[in-house]
Amino acid sequence: MKQSTQTSGSFDMDVQAIRAKARQDIESGAVTDSYRADRETVLKLLNEALATEVVCVLRYKRHYFMARGLNAEPVAAEFAEHATEEQSHADRLAERIVQLGGEPNLSPEGLTKRSHSEYVEGTTLQDMIKENLIAERIAIDSYRRMIDYVGDKDSTTRRLLEEILASEEEHADDLSDFLEK
Ligand SMILES: [Fe+2]
Ligand SMILES: [Fe+2]
Repeated sequence: MKQSTQTSGSFDMDVQAIRAKARQDIESGAVTDSYRADRETVLKLLNEALATEVVCVLRYKRHYFMARGLNAEPVAAEFAEHATEEQSHADRLAERIVQLGGEPNLSPEGLTKRSHSEYVEGTTLQDMIKENLIAERIAIDSYRRMIDYVGDKDSTTRRLLEEILASEEEHADDLSDFLEK
């Protein structure tokens, strides 16, 4: 079905065709014919990102409760704040997965395999900061790759990934400040 015609600079939208399609494929929710990304691949990537975020929440929580020693208080507070932000990233990813007609995989089974970052407990405060920084750096790299993959094929997913990436970069920056101290 022809939905628009474009001839040398002019653009005509076939609104009738768009309306008919919208009515016909109503069970697809937010996903329409003009969705240009490979939905299954995007869903797989979003679920891996979701697992990564959940593992980050768990690691930051563990570190928040276990942070001990001199100067532990501001570091523990930062861990707690990051845990909350990772949870909100997880929620936004899950929401997008559902919008795209997928299902968020929150099963504890295989969680660490789906996650890109690792769950390392560490013993000293220094270890914990380092492990979190490593995890943030992994997240930064994988979000960047996902953004490259999505390109301009799914701008909503791309925008979400870019916002999360910016937040992970702030996290990494906060942690390296602590390491320098
Ligand atoms: Fe995150
Ligand atoms: Fe983070």
